Amino acid sequence: MPQILPENAPFSPQQRAWLDGFLSGALGLGSSPPTTNGAHSPAPQLVNSPPPAPAPLAPIEPRKPTPIYNRDDPFPARVLHVRALCGEDSAKDVRAVALDLTGSALTYEAGDALGLYPENDHELVEHILEALGATGEEPVVTPESRIVPARIALLRGYDITRVGEDLLHLLAETAHDESEAAQLKELAEGDALDWLSGRDVLDVLRHFPSVSAAPDETLAALMPLQPRLYSIASSQLAFPTEVHLTIGVVRYHANERQRKGVASTFLAERVELVPGQRVSVFVHPSPGFRLPADGHTPIIMVGPGTGIAPFRAFLQERGATGATGKNWLFFGDQHAHCDFLYREELEEWLQNGSLARLDTAFSRDQDEKIYVQTRMIEHGAQLWDWLEDGAHFYVCGDAKRMAKDVDNALHHIARQHGGMDEAGAKTYVQSLVKSKRYQRDVY
Ligand SMILES: Cc1cc2nc3c(=O)[nH]c(=O)nc-3n(C[C@H](O)[C@H](O)[C@H](O)COP(=O)(O)OP(=O)(O)OC[C@H]3O[C@@H](n4cnc5c(N)ncnc54)[C@H](O)[C@@H]3O)c2cc1C
Ligand SMILES: NC(=O)c1ccc[n+]([C@@H]2O[C@H](COP(=O)([O-])OP(=O)(O)OC[C@H]3O[C@@H](n4cnc5c(N)ncnc54)[C@H](OP(=O)(O)O)[C@@H]3O)[C@@H](O)[C@H]2O)c1
Repeated sequence: MPQILPENAPFSPQQRAWLDGFLSGALGLGSSPPTTNGAHSPAPQLVNSPPPAPAPLAPIEPRKPTPIYNRDDPFPARVLHVRALCGEDSAKDVRAVALDLTGSALTYEAGDALGLYPENDHELVEHILEALGATGEEPVVTPESRIVPARIALLRGYDITRVGEDLLHLLAETAHDESEAAQLKELAEGDALDWLSGRDVLDVLRHFPSVSAAPDETLAALMPLQPRLYSIASSQLAFPTEVHLTIGVVRYHANERQRKGVASTFLAERVELVPGQRVSVFVHPSPGFRLPADGHTPIIMVGPGTGIAPFRAFLQERGATGATGKNWLFFGDQHAHCDFLYREELEEWLQNGSLARLDTAFSRDQDEKIYVQTRMIEHGAQLWDWLEDGAHFYVCGDAKRMAKDVDNALHHIARQHGGMDEAGAKTYVQSLVKSKRYQRDVY
């Protein structure tokens, strides 16, 4: 690559390499620009061509020699597949995602979560560039202090779905219209949070058209894009070089625009557009969500919806280790015919005895709601017997409502079948938690 910057230019070697690449590309000197991670990209249009939509992303190659990958230095895992788990009639879209960990030396235990760095929606990025009056080629600094074109920083570096105080202050300072400036100041001071709720960076830029902040300043005022966590749905004993996830895709309509969850739609919609795409991941250990050390111990798992994920890992792990303890799973979702996640695997496990019991609660297959806790209470006597036999009790999935209701059902069972009063049931459940026999992975 030709060296364009003078030796004494005040840049780090990485910034220098990127700028030399960028400038030689812009000047037509025939060298491909480097990617955001410093390696040469086989897809030069990624960094400095005009904005085709959606721009194919350059595959990120794993670096050698193998470092210990972590949150600050994630592993670029190849996407093996993204499969739909719901039927066509479903109101939901849940995907089974498999990633290749070959060469990473990453290890995980059943119960752990995977951290994943997503990329933003290309279309949303183009709309933001348009609202900023930017081409997308403007060099800007990422949260990791790299210099990259604005388009790349918006795709990979910054959170464009949440609006923070810094951005609002900047926009207030640069609004030409006095009333817009006053409204933005009010928002920045936290006085109009209701208006801000459910609105993203594009909403704000469009609502205040007199704002004239420069693209680099605007991006610098955004928050860094955060990784998302997903409960691991596989056992490494069963899949030594793979990691599986169960991802509920977030899509909803608000303030007259279709909204997309960043990471879930990245996996469901955008990685499939690019063959061989890699996703930056790290293992997030969950030491408080573990199978019993003794394989003879029975386990009860309550995992409606995507809450099923770690229990698929638990069942694979117990199968691979030859654990003889009985396994009981409660699963629920809206409709049996289209929302029964991993149905074939679960039914096979039930048939071959890996699952001693499988109780399902399809909430919308009848007039009244039937939830997992309905089934727990129906089978309360047996559930109590399992607990008396030393069973460990696990819950995964929705934290806001389900986990609380399941907890209430557990108290109810202790009262009804353990002959306890309210205080006794409370002490009993607390003792399960203290002895690590009641563990939750809720979000
Ligand atoms: C330990 C842990 C394990 C997890 N495991 C899993 C898992 O196995 N599977 C899984 O699918 N998820 C799991 N999650 C959740 C996951 O981390 C993400 O939060 C989820 O996928 C959404 O991320 P996103 O980037 O797609 O959406 P984001 O871009 O983060 O958007 C989500 C936000 O959109 C808003 N929102 C969502 N729906 C609506 C609506 N209908 N109306 C208005 N606003 C709405 C809410 O503010 C919500 O916080 C887990 C979380 C944790 C902490
Ligand atoms: N933080 C985030 O951004 C984010 C993103 C995705 C998911 N999540 C969380 O993950 C959860 C899992 O989502 P999911 O779509 O896989 O499953 P879900 O919404 O939990 O639905 C699974 C089943 O649980 C039922 N249910 C509803 N309320 C319940 C309750 N109080 N007790 C027991 N069961 C109940 C549902 O029934 P009905 O639908 O018929 O009521 C459905 O049959 C979500 O609820 C959400 O809280 C969070």
